[in-house]
Amino acid sequence: MATRPDYPMLARQLDATLDTRDWLTNASQTAAFINMTVDNLNWAGFYVQRLPGTLHLGPFQGQPACHPIPFSKGVCGAAATQRTTQRIADVYEFPGHIACDAASRSELVVPVIVTQGEQEVLWGVLDLDSPSPERFDAEDQAGIERLVEIFIASSDFDTVPD
Ligand code: SME
Repeated sequence: MATRPDYPMLARQLDATLDTRDWLTNASQTAAFINMTVDNLNWAGFYVQRLPGTLHLGPFQGQPACHPIPFSKGVCGAAATQRTTQRIADVYEFPGHIACDAASRSELVVPVIVTQGEQEVLWGVLDLDSPSPERFDAEDQAGIERLVEIFIASSDFDTVPD
């Protein structure tokens, strides 16, 4: 049985950890922090939109992973295209799921949307995989979304290609 992280405490700890404005450093720290503090995960990391409509592998913890991922494919592509969090109880039931790690059974993908001038742009996604089905509930989703907000607020981002 997964133990529920104290997400408000994790938010305070991550905010204190991200002591630079460098997005690459902060993404590396955030992936490591989540992997260390949120249990029952087999992969935690970022994909970054470095070419229009394509997600490139960014800082992560876990097995070497598939890349690049077009917006038309996978759970990550769905999060990028729809700009909404994808909380997948059983990846076997998600058409077009990309299985980088065969152990993955459930997934939570949070879009990272940043302000660029007057626009809100899709910078990338945070992807969490678990070897257990139904690992992520609504409280997990809200807690991880808050961590993404802290990552965004703590970082200066390169211009997202359009
Ligand atoms: N499962 C993801 C691909 C990324 S690996 O999980 C790290 C997807 O379907 O987009």
